[in-house]
Amino acid sequence: MRLIETEAAARLGEARKGFSRAALSAVYGPEALADADRGDFRALLHRAGEDRLGVWTRLFVIGVPVPAAAAAAAFAPFTIDEALSCGLLLAHGDAVTAGWGAQFDGERLLFSDQLPNTTGARTRDHVVGVGGASKLLLDATSRESVGSALDLGTGCGVQALALAGHAARVTATDLSERALAFAALNAAVNGTELELLQGDLLAPVAGCRFDLVVANPPFVIATPGGGWTYRDAGREADGIAAELAAAAPGLLNPGGTMLFLANWLHRDGEPWAERVAGWFPDAGLRVWAVEREVLDPLDYVRTWQRDSGESDDADQAAAWLDWFDARGAEGVGFGLVGVRRIEGPTEVVCESVRHAVETPWADRVRDWFALRAADLGPETLWTAKLRVADGVALQQSAAPGPEGWDVDRQWLQQSNGMRYAEEVDPLVVAFMGACDGTAEVRLQVQLLADTYGAEAAMLYAQLYPVIRRLVERGFLALD
Ligand SMILES: C[S@@+](CC[C@H](N)C(=O)[O-])C[C@H]1O[C@@H](n2cnc3c(N)ncnc32)[C@H](O)[C@@H]1O
Repeated sequence: MRLIETEAAARLGEARKGFSRAALSAVYGPEALADADRGDFRALLHRAGEDRLGVWTRLFVIGVPVPAAAAAAAFAPFTIDEALSCGLLLAHGDAVTAGWGAQFDGERLLFSDQLPNTTGARTRDHVVGVGGASKLLLDATSRESVGSALDLGTGCGVQALALAGHAARVTATDLSERALAFAALNAAVNGTELELLQGDLLAPVAGCRFDLVVANPPFVIATPGGGWTYRDAGREADGIAAELAAAAPGLLNPGGTMLFLANWLHRDGEPWAERVAGWFPDAGLRVWAVEREVLDPLDYVRTWQRDSGESDDADQAAAWLDWFDARGAEGVGFGLVGVRRIEGPTEVVCESVRHAVETPWADRVRDWFALRAADLGPETLWTAKLRVADGVALQQSAAPGPEGWDVDRQWLQQSNGMRYAEEVDPLVVAFMGACDGTAEVRLQVQLLADTYGAEAAMLYAQLYPVIRRLVERGFLALD
């Protein structure tokens, strides 16, 4: 299936030249653009005229009709007849409106079924645009050069086109023919080549391995009678994520990385971290699963009904909530899962991170895997020189006591990176106070042992797990 021929797509690419975020910002002003991002289009409505940029802005940013004659001029050398016959524009008398959405990812323009100012899906094979989840995955993906990259469930191709900027070969798959047609169109419009394969999840790439795999899959859990291709994988519960996890060793080249977004059930008596860890095979992977939010079943159902434009379907909501009740589900977690292929037994770390971290997430993922790969055994740290990492401060809370301020809590706070906070005891505070990168840990421990009248080896046995954790979490840096 094609939405338009490649040659016509190239002419559409010509026509959109100049329709970019940079141009919008330069012509209408960054404030007008920021307002539009929040849904306030007054400034754009006032300033966007019937010139080429104005027409594209009215159609694809604001979402209002424009005169057909103005559209014809603004789309040349793509013709208005072509635009109407493929569905890009819809005729309303002498005016036209957008039939597709068009969104930016940097300088790239992505067409999809997602119209400006709408979230509700209209057809079962609706191809979503660049949403919050797409942006999270884009932000979390390292842009270092790789040989081969795979985008599973490519939709309009947003991840695949970003991968094409730093991967020698990009493969993108989707179950939906319409999604692949949009991905092909967007590749042509943006002058990029992708290998596009149709099929269920891993089937089209069976036996293939990649350096980098990304997936923003249809992860929504249990939608009785649902079946929106962009969000329902047709698997039981969070089975789609479990399938991706199980497939990781066979999909990745040695040292390769996979990043996927997922939902997981929070069930009575089953810690979510155990559930997620249980998805992965016993050997060959290092995994970091970060939970960004948890919704209770009612909020979850409401959110996804809003997303598909089904908020008024009370029967659907009831069946969905019954499904959660029957499984003892108390909530649904959403997060990012990073996987690296390694030698040896699988290691899985699951953590809840609700606060805003320093972006891009790609840097956080890079740092996490780098620290986990480092040798932080007791012998290595014994002779290491450690320093308090940049951006780390010690904070205290104290109450007035008989002899002045009585410190009852002390914690380390990062102002950058993961922005972790970590409670520490006075011994660790004393140890860290001397971590300036000049002395080996063994000398610092000896000094502390002398001060406290303790035996150095015993003290180190007590301190080592804490020091290791502080290095792994970026509070202490190895010099
Ligand atoms: C949430 S959209 C993600 C689109 C895009 N990758 C992004 O990041 O915005 C999920 C995509 O997975 C596709 N999909 C749904 N079920 C699938 C399956 N069983 N196998 C492969 N792709 C599937 C949908 O058609 C849709 O394009």
